[in-house]
Amino acid sequence: MFINFWYPAGLASEFDDGPVKKMMLGQNFVLFRDTTGTIQCLSDVCIHRGGSLAAGKVKGDCVECPYHGWQFDGQGQCRKIPSLGPEGKIPPRAHVDAYPTQERYGLVFCFLGDLPEKDRPPLMDIPEYPEKGVIDGWRATRQEFLWDIDYKRSMENGIDSAHNEFVHPTHGFSGERDDYKVEPLELIETEWGTGFFGKMYAPPLAEEKMRGESGREEAATIEAGTGHHCPASLWTYIHPTPDIKIHQYAFEVPVH
Ligand code: FES
Repeated sequence: MFINFWYPAGLASEFDDGPVKKMMLGQNFVLFRDTTGTIQCLSDVCIHRGGSLAAGKVKGDCVECPYHGWQFDGQGQCRKIPSLGPEGKIPPRAHVDAYPTQERYGLVFCFLGDLPEKDRPPLMDIPEYPEKGVIDGWRATRQEFLWDIDYKRSMENGIDSAHNEFVHPTHGFSGERDDYKVEPLELIETEWGTGFFGKMYAPPLAEEKMRGESGREEAATIEAGTGHHCPASLWTYIHPTPDIKIHQYAFEVPVH
């Protein structure tokens, strides 16, 4: 497991109504939104007797363990031990691990490693979706998938251009073209990844033609490319026609 990267915990809206348990990289975490609107991420295991904090409640800026009511803030520090009474002294070691979070693209990302902020790799950038939302001319949709595979197979597939001819009928001829070969690709290298962009020969968009939409009438060369950012994020650009651009960004997380 590569721990020192940002991983998606889920849609930001999932965390509006109390603590939520998420498994990432084989560990259980609890996420909750505090009174400032910040989504906090802590280890889900209470330091006292191992209760699941996600089964508790949000109390102000803390999550309250359901077993004996200890409360932990967004830094993981225990702020209340009810059995000690109002004046009880809370030992500093009453603490659970806390993880940085950021809310972007309508999603919540957690940094599950131990690098200081200045050394952390950046989240994958989406130029069409800056901080203030999707820019004009683009429309964003979000989809979530749970795959019973090793995530490395998913990444490998994402940057494998040779399967398109056989697997995706809109990107190739399903292996029925005698002169098929992968055309030269433009290699794209960034600080945190690699990818390619190039041309593919593709059949007409038959379904769109049947629906009377403005698809390609003839076989055509389309532009497409894909690449990875850090170990578990993928970008894919598909330009079926000069006027239609599909830019897809996949943020993946190994669950266990
Ligand atoms: S196990 Fe969490 S307060 Fe006791």
